[in-house]
Amino acid sequence: MLIRPRRNRANEVIRSLVRETHLSANHLIAPLFVIEGTNQKVPVASMPGQNRLSIDLVIKEAKELYDLGVRTVALFPAVSENLKTPHAQEAYNPDGLNARAISELKNALPEMMIMGDVALDPYSSEGHDGIVDPKTGEILNDETLEVLANQALCEARAGVDIIGPSDRMDGRVSYIRQALDDEGFSKTLIMSYSAKYASAYYGPFRDALDSAPKKGDKKTYQMDYANANEALREAALDEAEGADILMVKPGLPYLDVIYRLKQNFTLPIAAYNVSGEYAMVKAAVEKGWLENDKVILETLTSFRRAGADIILTYFAKEAAQLLNN
Ligand code: PBG
Repeated sequence: MLIRPRRNRANEVIRSLVRETHLSANHLIAPLFVIEGTNQKVPVASMPGQNRLSIDLVIKEAKELYDLGVRTVALFPAVSENLKTPHAQEAYNPDGLNARAISELKNALPEMMIMGDVALDPYSSEGHDGIVDPKTGEILNDETLEVLANQALCEARAGVDIIGPSDRMDGRVSYIRQALDDEGFSKTLIMSYSAKYASAYYGPFRDALDSAPKKGDKKTYQMDYANANEALREAALDEAEGADILMVKPGLPYLDVIYRLKQNFTLPIAAYNVSGEYAMVKAAVEKGWLENDKVILETLTSFRRAGADIILTYFAKEAAQLLNN
């Protein structure tokens, strides 16, 4: 036998010499759920190990993440039900929870990059990412753009570094880019949720924020999970509209989409390893059916192998701790 591929796997030294992809804390973004109050920490039942944190504890958590090498966080506010309205005005309240969380974290830890979500669902009494036509139930595209732009501006004024439009309205990236530039926020990045699918894997996130749609589903704006060419079309639009980074979401069931985007675009690609993917691993670990640490590192490395430059993941802190050891 002339050819023995096992020679390149014989020990850890040769394996690390020939390793094709690398994972480090620098590639990770940690999503954090924010609530009102001080010293408040409310566990998310369907996401063992994840909590809703008051702003003071968000700052503490962010400092720990930063020291571990995770230098970007994505903030998701859990807004009280009585502030939710059909037109989601709370989304751009300069004194609201989201804006306060951004500015207080920015003041406490200026070197940490902060990503703000742009979509109406945490603020909408309908639980939808866009404005709902009260007569027909339709999610109104162009009427929603104005609210999204207001939300993006509110976040930018509070000091956000990256805007993450997760709403899936047509034309939102250029609309938001224009609004940001008109107000002098030309340095604020846009990481677009370009290929965001209508997915059952978002369940635990909607528990955390109590943001599930009151009626219907999100299939008229989030993508059909049967489609991949459509992801390329959406990504091409976002690139043309000025997005700085293209995201695929969810992650694990869509590694093929990550790969396709990486092959077809030169912009950086992000993958969102979503709440349901986290819940699946943790549930199996709790039952003693999977080994936590090994599964986390294998999972996150698979995103890198598929072509993701950046990974948003609830495993960020644990992974960084493992990688630092
Ligand atoms: C809101 C938003 C969602 C997620 C991120 N931003 C939920 C949704 O679209 O219904 C999901 C994240 C996760 O499941 O971890 N537009």
